[in-house]
Amino acid sequence: MQKKPDRRTVLNRILYLWAAVTSVPIISSIIRFIFPPARAFVGSKVIGTVDEMQPNTGKVVQLGERPVIVITTKDGEPIAYGANCTHLGCVVRYREERGDIYCACHGSVFNIEGQPVSGPASRPLEEIPIKIENDQVSITTA
Ligand code: FES
Repeated sequence: MQKKPDRRTVLNRILYLWAAVTSVPIISSIIRFIFPPARAFVGSKVIGTVDEMQPNTGKVVQLGERPVIVITTKDGEPIAYGANCTHLGCVVRYREERGDIYCACHGSVFNIEGQPVSGPASRPLEEIPIKIENDQVSITTA
């Protein structure tokens, strides 16, 4: 006949199971932070005409598999960055009222140059080249 485990053994097993289950997302996040998935921006994409680029606006568009945030500054200059936050990869957005780039996941804030100014992100956003040709504004990796 098999011996019935005592209360301490049962509680230890529950504790080990809980620790194993809760550590999976933490370890997964750490691994993704250290070894971010290598997904290259591919090709180019027309995002509009010069007249359509309203000052102090921003939008997220897809370039290949990755989102890109395209911002028209208050001076009317178009700029673009990879839209994945450099903390854990959430998609950032432009805040017109503050003129900065914000990640709602953990509150990182980037200035208009893509540099982190507050929150957990410590690396700048990846700059994406913008090309203006024949009144067409495009983002490209070429
Ligand atoms: S993913 Fe952006 S602040 Fe954490």
